[in-house]
Amino acid sequence: CGIVGYVGEKQALSVVVEGLRRLEYRGYDSAGVAVVADGRLDTRKKAGKLANLESLLGTDPLPQSTIGIGHTRWATHGGPTDANAHPHVSEDGKVAVIHNGIIENFAELRAELTAAGVTLSSETDTEVVAHLLAAVLPETDHDLAEAMRRVCRRLSGAFTLVAVHSDIPDVVVGARRNSPLVVGRGQGENFLASDVAAFIAHTRFATELGQDQVVELRRDTVVVTTFDGDPADVTEYEVTWDASAAEKGGYDTFMAKEIAEQPKAVSDTLLGRIGTDGRLKLDEMRLTDAELREVDKVVVIACGTAYHSGMVAKYAIEHWTRIPTEVELASEFRYRDPVVGPRTLVIAISQSGETMDTIMALRFAREQGAKVLAICNTQGSTIPRESDAVVYTYAGPEVAVASTKAFLTQIVACYLVALYVAQVRGNKYGDEIAAVVRELQDMPRKVDLVLDTTEEMKRIADELKDAPSVLFIGRHVGFPVALEGALKLKELAYMHAEGFAAGELKHGPIALLEDGVPVIVVVPSPAGRSVLHEKIISNIQEVRARGARTIVIAEEGDEAVVPYADTIVRIPACPTLLQPLVATVPLQVFAAAMATAKGLDVDQPRNLAKSVTVE
Ligand code: G6P
Repeated sequence: CGIVGYVGEKQALSVVVEGLRRLEYRGYDSAGVAVVADGRLDTRKKAGKLANLESLLGTDPLPQSTIGIGHTRWATHGGPTDANAHPHVSEDGKVAVIHNGIIENFAELRAELTAAGVTLSSETDTEVVAHLLAAVLPETDHDLAEAMRRVCRRLSGAFTLVAVHSDIPDVVVGARRNSPLVVGRGQGENFLASDVAAFIAHTRFATELGQDQVVELRRDTVVVTTFDGDPADVTEYEVTWDASAAEKGGYDTFMAKEIAEQPKAVSDTLLGRIGTDGRLKLDEMRLTDAELREVDKVVVIACGTAYHSGMVAKYAIEHWTRIPTEVELASEFRYRDPVVGPRTLVIAISQSGETMDTIMALRFAREQGAKVLAICNTQGSTIPRESDAVVYTYAGPEVAVASTKAFLTQIVACYLVALYVAQVRGNKYGDEIAAVVRELQDMPRKVDLVLDTTEEMKRIADELKDAPSVLFIGRHVGFPVALEGALKLKELAYMHAEGFAAGELKHGPIALLEDGVPVIVVVPSPAGRSVLHEKIISNIQEVRARGARTIVIAEEGDEAVVPYADTIVRIPACPTLLQPLVATVPLQVFAAAMATAKGLDVDQPRNLAKSVTVE
């Protein structure tokens, strides 16, 4: 969910709604706002996207006010209805609360409130907080921050809460446990949001709240305490990108813009990390050479698209470092009693740095004594904060829900880590590594080249938009690319799509094939690994023999595949391990084009949220 709070001199409603627009990627099941004016609290909320709320505000406007809060929701407790939309208001109509996360003991609190005669008007866990705040406020001498601290001490689970009260018209209060909350510090105005994108148009000065902290925001002051009321340590920073980075800038969709930004994102992630002598420099690693030499196993944990970058990482890490590497979905990892110890290096990959499944997995790993290295795109987010070390990806803000440039930069960061570990440990692939480092530096140019071939993918999408399903196959690192291609298509075009290891197709999935079923084949580089190349040609023949229509992604100059391809899409030649950086791009374009051809929303696919802060 996305959260915004404002207190200052401007019209709060426009600041809040604009902030919500920039956070809508975090959830768009419903949206709501609350303002305090003339000692009265007023709210408006509406199921569906922010546009629905905006039209309600047009027909049923709110009074002018300089203090307000707003929320876009990704439904957990209770369906996406008007009643379940946030803010939730206390019975006396004076407190409004918005919330991100899950309050686990809500049933018990709900029962307690009902027994005390309170009537609850929604099915949400959030509403209990509004009633609890109203109940404790009189005991605190009308100190909303103190009331929030008292209520938070009674809550279990993960939550970010923001509240306003009509009798205290100059204060916004926020609380954070687990899910993110950032303060934006302006001149005569202050902001609260789940992401700096919400206020970057107003200020670049941000304060990151830590775990279990409460913030009291007034026009000129920001006071942060622990849940117990002690002064809290906070981190202040200046955001390095500006508002235009979070705008569409002439593209039809954020996704199109973010696909086009990939050469720069890859280049920014490489920047300063390879010396002129070709040696890797990862000063931010914060793990000592001795610690890295001790590692006897790597476990990569991640979700969704980040998981696919982790699969690519496995091939690179094992090949270059010879350290056994596992990749696991973060949501599965800690629930199966995995073998993790002080000599395990756990790599947690996350664009947002806020994915709850990944956070819980990394906490578990640290409890077992493992060192955790985060690969993350969001400065100061929870995952890097809780890790032993972090290598940031410099993709810039990614707004489209389906991840593109974050994926490519995650892969680059994994290569850098793998090569760095290989360098520290010394290994038998010295020459190969030197060559790969040079190739890696050339990848931004190659990603740029591949963008030129994407028109072909758009044409194919128009032809295939009514296909009942699309299959993707690949070998080696082409396998995770195939999985990512299928995931993109599911997310954006809501159609059946599956990725397979090409060699596995004949062990079952081949039964799915019939006349005309599109099969997209990611062909490995013919240069380095000719065995793989020969094998995939056999696999293409197998699918063609069953009537499939083959769309083949192959390197420039790879003539051997031509006879087997109904359609061929060219990508620049590069070493096999680096190929995902170019091979994924046509698949991203294809998925976006399929969604467009079907008339669907490319940036905000149904049911999804970019950052899922619940387990
Ligand atoms: C959500 C998004 C996915 C994303 C995954 C992991 O499910 O819809 O696109 O890949 O979370 O997100 P993260 O921020 O941890 O990379």
